[in-house]
Amino acid sequence: MSAGQRRIFSGIQPTGRKHLGNYIGAIRQYVEGQEASDETAGEVAIYCIVDLHAVTVAYDPAELRERVHDTTAILIAAGLDPERCVLFRQGDVREHTELCWLLGGVTAWGDLNRMHQWKTKREQIEQQTGAFVSAGLFNYPILQAADVLAYRATEVPVGDDQRQHIELMREIARRFNERFGETLVVPEHRIPGVGARIMDLQDPTSKMSTTAGGESGRVYVLEEPDGIRKKFRSAVTDSGREVRRAGPGGGKEGIENLIEILCVVRGIGPEQVEAEFEGSGYGDFKAAVGDAVAEYLAPVRERYAALRADPAELERTLAAGAEKAAALAAPVLADVRDAMGVAAPR
Ligand code: TYM
Repeated sequence: MSAGQRRIFSGIQPTGRKHLGNYIGAIRQYVEGQEASDETAGEVAIYCIVDLHAVTVAYDPAELRERVHDTTAILIAAGLDPERCVLFRQGDVREHTELCWLLGGVTAWGDLNRMHQWKTKREQIEQQTGAFVSAGLFNYPILQAADVLAYRATEVPVGDDQRQHIELMREIARRFNERFGETLVVPEHRIPGVGARIMDLQDPTSKMSTTAGGESGRVYVLEEPDGIRKKFRSAVTDSGREVRRAGPGGGKEGIENLIEILCVVRGIGPEQVEAEFEGSGYGDFKAAVGDAVAEYLAPVRERYAALRADPAELERTLAAGAEKAAALAAPVLADVRDAMGVAAPR
């Protein structure tokens, strides 16, 4: 990899229940990143299904393997082409865990302790009966830093909720380089201008989330069109009538969320949405957004069904991806070991 060369990396948790927020905020960008990477110039887009992150909360081992297949099939159905990008499962590439440990030496405990995601997840777990908060959950952002830094990635496409984790990984890379010499690349986040924070349809002041909020507030990538339309029809709005943005504190978060979703799905700007729905009332607008999203996700759901039916092929795809990923990460780890003076010299 030469200086200034673009390298994209992103990770996604293995759950078959990926929602519209994941799709719009992240998966859509993965496909764009793949399309924009110039293979002939040695650019590469790397996408990882992060099964090692999934073990930090309660889970079922057999189910984890299934969910990895679900997520792999969703990503391919969305447009990732394993021939044109590197698509793999984190647990297959040992460099991630090794680098995670090594980076622990340059990660401040206090930084981990102020991560919003740590605080929220920890609170969520503590409210459950038999609550067990793992040390893994606390260390989660170090593994996330290792994921990206092991490839000397320059760009990380994510939704807005990952901003703080990316800031921390930048800090870890900087601290490593200061202490051990220029070894790691300090990556930039790539957070989309529109759709970086899709909100819950029932509580538009909270982000759409896999774990928080109820079923009716989130729309799944694999959901049937009728279910999608129903959820949009019952989306929470406000007591007004106008389909327009009001800005922060304007009390129109529900409508703004729907406008944003329609902008992404139709590839148009908010002014166009406002003009088209001027005077139409919320009912018609909500129905139109529901139709547009159902239509947008239908081809993904259909391709998914065919891909998911062949788990052996998905395994072959992941194995081939892991081989490519390991070839990229191994030399970086060798440099890191050397810089840190651990293990036998090369
Ligand atoms: P995960 O699987 O929770 O989420 C995957 C991606 O979806 C984005 N996202 C959203 N975007 C817009 N609106 C929403 N409501 C919304 N909810 C989620 C997330 O920002 C994310 O980009 N920690 C990561 C996984 C990870 C990772 C990495 C990411 C592991 N290692 C290295 C980047 C680089 C996560 O929890 O993803």
